[in-house]
Amino acid sequence: MSFHGCILQILQEDGPTSGRALRRRLTILPLVATMLTARLFRPLSHLPGKTLSFYDREKGTRRMLLLYSAPPGPVSRRTYSDEVNPVGSKAVLVTGCDSGFGFSLAKHLHSKGFLVFAGCLMKDRGNDGVKELDSLKSDRLRTVQLNVCKSEEVDKVVEIVRSGLVDPEKGMWGLVNNAGISTFGEVEFTSMETYKEVAEVNLWGTVRMTKSFLPLIRRAKGRVVNISSMLGRMANPARSPYCITKFGVEAFSDCLRYEMYPLGVKVSVVEPGNFIAATSLYSPERIQAIANKMWDELPEVVRKDYGRKYFDEKIAKMETYCNSGSTDTSPVINAVTHALTSANPYTRYHPMDYYWWLRMQIMTHLPGAVSDRIYIH
Ligand SMILES: NC(=O)c1ccc[n+]([C@@H]2O[C@H](COP(=O)([O-])OP(=O)(O)OC[C@H]3O[C@@H](n4cnc5c(N)ncnc54)[C@H](OP(=O)(O)O)[C@@H]3O)[C@@H](O)[C@H]2O)c1
Repeated sequence: MSFHGCILQILQEDGPTSGRALRRRLTILPLVATMLTARLFRPLSHLPGKTLSFYDREKGTRRMLLLYSAPPGPVSRRTYSDEVNPVGSKAVLVTGCDSGFGFSLAKHLHSKGFLVFAGCLMKDRGNDGVKELDSLKSDRLRTVQLNVCKSEEVDKVVEIVRSGLVDPEKGMWGLVNNAGISTFGEVEFTSMETYKEVAEVNLWGTVRMTKSFLPLIRRAKGRVVNISSMLGRMANPARSPYCITKFGVEAFSDCLRYEMYPLGVKVSVVEPGNFIAATSLYSPERIQAIANKMWDELPEVVRKDYGRKYFDEKIAKMETYCNSGSTDTSPVINAVTHALTSANPYTRYHPMDYYWWLRMQIMTHLPGAVSDRIYIH
């Protein structure tokens, strides 16, 4: 019997009750129950009704294993109760503050008392996010023009920060590598140009910023917080141009954490789930624009082999995904704040809903043959 067939049989109400089957049931059920309950007691964003199912190859249908729906009451936010370092006059730099997490983080960290340097891609063009941050007219919240792909802009910001510190010899406390872009598309639909474009911001931007600011952060024995994604831990079909950059951010962060540990610098990774509804990462217009460009640029053989119907179905799936995210970014903001202020920050933070958390655990800890069957095929 195949592994999934075995699990199905174990979990069937009317399945065999031999000693062996019972032993197997006793092994698997607590595992699933522990994973679920562990998460159910951790408050996060609202949970859409989701199912966990197996594909039953013999019957050609999917069999439901678990159904968990939205909790009855509102889900409170995760709170952290451990020892917190005083903020004092500590300085932090956040990239990508024009919108989304970066924009909220800049305001939140400022409200906590930090001296915040808010890197904005569009400061020179005076976009709305920058104007709103500037309108706070605070000495402790300074917007700076910053494209993480441009070394000359990064070098300029290093100098602005250094000269804005009370004592540059004591360094800068925190760097939050948040700037990012995203796209989608199956491997055969994605041009090399797109792969490089996304990596330039998400991966090389993170590496460039980190290398440039480490001398200041080492002096403060400070923090590096890298915003990765749940897609930096588990891959998804049609997301390779994004996934490879976030897997890269994870690997980079791990290497950096090992190297910085003896020097007193702590490195954390924040892996948000789906918060697309709350940020500017995707809009319906952007999805359509990406789709049109992608279709126009497809090699003839790919366009002919897959066909327009298949392509349109994939785009519709992406649109649905982008409409289903959490609209409350506070789990991400709280995670970054904890990583910057706690005496013992976590290595990884998982602000995501129960469905994605469970999926990530299964996809990263169980054999690929099992997780593929549950979630992909
Ligand atoms: N939203 C989610 O569901 C989600 C989930 C997992 C991970 N994340 C990650 O969270 C981070 C923030 O994304 P978000 O969701 O808040 O999206 P967002 O609202 O689009 O924020 C990304 C920010 O990065 C800026 N940016 C883009 N290219 C840049 C560059 N070359 N240099 C400097 N800044 C640049 C954007 O500026 P413009 O607005 O001017 O383009 C924008 O302000 C990203 O790393 C993203 O991958 C998001």
